[in-house]
Amino acid sequence: MSKLIGEIKLKGDKSISHRALIFAVLANGISKIKNLSTSVDVRNTINCLISCGANIQLDNNGDAIVYGSMLSKPRHILDCGNSGTTIRLLMGLMAGYNIPSDFTGDESLIKRPMNRVTDKLQDMGTVFSSTKFPIKLKSGVTDADREINVDIASAQVKTAIIFAALGVNGITKITGKIRSRDHTERMLISLSDTIKIDQECISVNGKDVNIKPFNFQIPGDTSSAAFIIGSAIIRKGSFVKIKNLLANRYRLGFVDVLKRMGANISIYYNENNSEIDEPTCDIEVGYSELVGTSIHSSEIPFLIDEIPLISVLAAQARGETTIEGAEELRVKESDRISNVCMNLKSIGVDVEEKESGMCIKGTRNLYNTNIYTKGDHRIALAFMVLSSIIDGGLDMDDIDCAKYSFPEFLSIIKDLEK
Ligand code: S3P
Repeated sequence: MSKLIGEIKLKGDKSISHRALIFAVLANGISKIKNLSTSVDVRNTINCLISCGANIQLDNNGDAIVYGSMLSKPRHILDCGNSGTTIRLLMGLMAGYNIPSDFTGDESLIKRPMNRVTDKLQDMGTVFSSTKFPIKLKSGVTDADREINVDIASAQVKTAIIFAALGVNGITKITGKIRSRDHTERMLISLSDTIKIDQECISVNGKDVNIKPFNFQIPGDTSSAAFIIGSAIIRKGSFVKIKNLLANRYRLGFVDVLKRMGANISIYYNENNSEIDEPTCDIEVGYSELVGTSIHSSEIPFLIDEIPLISVLAAQARGETTIEGAEELRVKESDRISNVCMNLKSIGVDVEEKESGMCIKGTRNLYNTNIYTKGDHRIALAFMVLSSIIDGGLDMDDIDCAKYSFPEFLSIIKDLEK
């Protein structure tokens, strides 16, 4: 096994890339976005926005010039591919701007629950002629002051409601489980005066919304960084520095957990001079011997996408790791609880699957066997990390699906290998 040594920068954060593109299309002028995510998921958002008449000029470095313009009725069904963020955000946007549109996705996406968004949009007056795939949105939100209660801590649901609220002539108060990643709120605060936020409520005033055009260099993707950080932690002798990474606290929960497990990670926060208020940092990480930990439900919204990675690291840590309150993982690109448990069992790990989590007993005796990813990018990436410390490696059925979030993973690892 080779160690990882070096300094890297990553492509822009995927969650922020989706949102930056949408806000740039809504803006009143020309925006410049640098370092967009190269993921297939973000490509799907770009393609859907272009189908709705958006003018997005992309160059080969992942930089975009976006001309703010009115969106129009797409000529084709909006195919959101594998991307839950694309479909849920765009349903909110189309409802807000009253653009009739049909939505579909790949075989994983069409099995995922969309009623968490369509129900809320219906409460805001949106009419669907089908809320099953292909989803058909007939007409958008109606004008009123109203309160919408969010019952799942989901940034996708919250953002869909915020986008829809932009088109309501009235005030939409969003209450309930609003503590999830807050990139949409931060961008709206930076670019408009339509949103007010306190501990209990997000309030959007949709009357005469004016969104400023902007220049923004998207910080490196925190969730992609997690797989590099995990790789450095488990490969003896490694030391890697990641520069200019997104340091939003809703995204760095996995670092707290890994530190609790004994990981040698340092975070250096950078000064932020950007037009969009998102913190950034540099991270240093070195090889570390990990011990088990307990992850409680209150931590889940801060590390939801990193649980597959934490699970594979826990599989080779000393002692037991328990994860609870993570039932949302069952409705991601695959059922990530069952998928992680099944694959860990097959490589020789003592793991107990629970309704909303799992209990993993770490071991150093891991077998090189087959891994079935079910086409889920984060399952593939997590087991690619683990594969590097297993004699003979793991036989993965599909590593190509990493492209949905982190197409550069293998080439970055290759460059860091010494
Ligand atoms: C995302 C929110 C999260 C996350 C997903 C990206 C976003 O989903 O799992 O990968 O960009 O808003 P939920 O909002 O469904 O938890």
